[in-house]
Amino acid sequence: MTQIIDGKKISQEVRDELKEKVATLKARGKTFSLAVIQVGDDPASSVYVGNKKKACAYIGIESLSYELPRETTQEELLKLVDELNGNPGVSGILIQLPLPEHMDEDKVLLAISPEKDVDGFHPVNVGNLSIGRPGFVSCTPAGVIQLLKRSGIQIEGKECVVLGRSNIVGKPMAMLLLRENGTVTVCHSRTKNLKEITRRADILVVAIGRPKYVDASFVKEGAVVIDVGIHRNEAGKLCGDVDFDSVSPHTSAITPVPGGVGPMTIAMLMHNVVEGSR
Ligand code: GUN
Repeated sequence: MTQIIDGKKISQEVRDELKEKVATLKARGKTFSLAVIQVGDDPASSVYVGNKKKACAYIGIESLSYELPRETTQEELLKLVDELNGNPGVSGILIQLPLPEHMDEDKVLLAISPEKDVDGFHPVNVGNLSIGRPGFVSCTPAGVIQLLKRSGIQIEGKECVVLGRSNIVGKPMAMLLLRENGTVTVCHSRTKNLKEITRRADILVVAIGRPKYVDASFVKEGAVVIDVGIHRNEAGKLCGDVDFDSVSPHTSAITPVPGGVGPMTIAMLMHNVVEGSR
């Protein structure tokens, strides 16, 4: 029987643990606050930002909302980031991506103090992850590790294949699986003999960004398949990078879309705000 990994349930567990922890720490006088910056009014970004603020409210984290017009200059944004970096009342800073085209995203992300970079995007945090030092870890791949651990799936010694090499998911995912003592291969759109490699995987994490790209022919019988993709078809229905109906009968465990990896991203963002960079 295939185990359907319930990301909604596991993310709720994480949120409830954090809520309890925040209540305890607040009673001792500690405070938590997340500055959430959105530039422009991209509808998808507005939904994400709204969900992040709601999660803060649930857990007991104060959220400071900065909704800036699309025309905001990069200098104005950098000035705000600088102020927030220097404000001891702000525990974390999140700049919702994508930024408008007139801004240099790398430059803006580099301006966030690594100690407040709860997204884990700053090169200092990326570097710390790659050499096994404490630091903030990108939320989506951190969420995948929690899904695996809390579903009783062992990573140590397993053949782990990551399909996708983005800075936000693929690369940090590989680093985290390595940290958990998996044997890790990263492949991507230019990989030769792709299916030969993905079929070796005990744990296959798919973040290639193409709807239903992975069918049963990519997957070893009994593998664990984690689908990081999320797409909406013409009918408005959500699907992932994995063709769930084709793949799931061949797996020992699989994440659905929606309700798999998605809910974990915000839960891990909240974890980063509460736990700091440990
Ligand atoms: N836009 C899409 N995903 C993310 C994310 O994880 N963090 C930020 N800051 N922006 C995003």
